[in-house]
Amino acid sequence: MKNIVIVYWSATGNTESMAIAIAEGAKKEGASISLIEVGNASKEDVLRADAVAFGCPSMGSEELEEEEMEPFIESLEMENLKGKPMILFGSYDWGDGQWMREWMDRMTKQGVLLIEDGLTIQNAPDEEGIKRCRELGTKLALI
Ligand SMILES: Cc1cc2nc3c(=O)[nH]c(=O)nc-3n(C[C@H](O)[C@H](O)[C@H](O)COP(=O)(O)O)c2cc1C
Repeated sequence: MKNIVIVYWSATGNTESMAIAIAEGAKKEGASISLIEVGNASKEDVLRADAVAFGCPSMGSEELEEEEMEPFIESLEMENLKGKPMILFGSYDWGDGQWMREWMDRMTKQGVLLIEDGLTIQNAPDEEGIKRCRELGTKLALI
């Protein structure tokens, strides 16, 4: 069974709703899912996963959240993630998605296999947004 790990940070629940919908979409394909808030995640969770989803809203000034997500992503830069199937996702409000473009570049430089552009949704996902998240989860489970 495919082991999928979803690690996310969310203050007001928007990115968390995306994470839950991604998990639902992946579960549909029979994958085993670990949905973990980044504060409870370890590098090993990511390293032993068959496929990974990372979620974080745009914070600071078009940045990853600095207390937990940024250090977690930084800690993985020392590890070998070459070829690891991955998706990125997160909520934003007023920006143009710069944080996600930079995050994608950073992960791509590390050699991960981004299976799609990062999924960004403004504020809380509506029904259509939830559907897109579920579809992305399904895609991750099928890769
Ligand atoms: C301190 C802070 C900084 C933020 N910075 C940005 C930003 O640079 N660009 C943007 O588009 N949204 C920014 N936002 C808006 C959040 O990304 C948005 O509210 C998002 O839906 C929060 O997701 P969450 O519910 O998962 O925490 C910021 C919000 C806060 C509280």
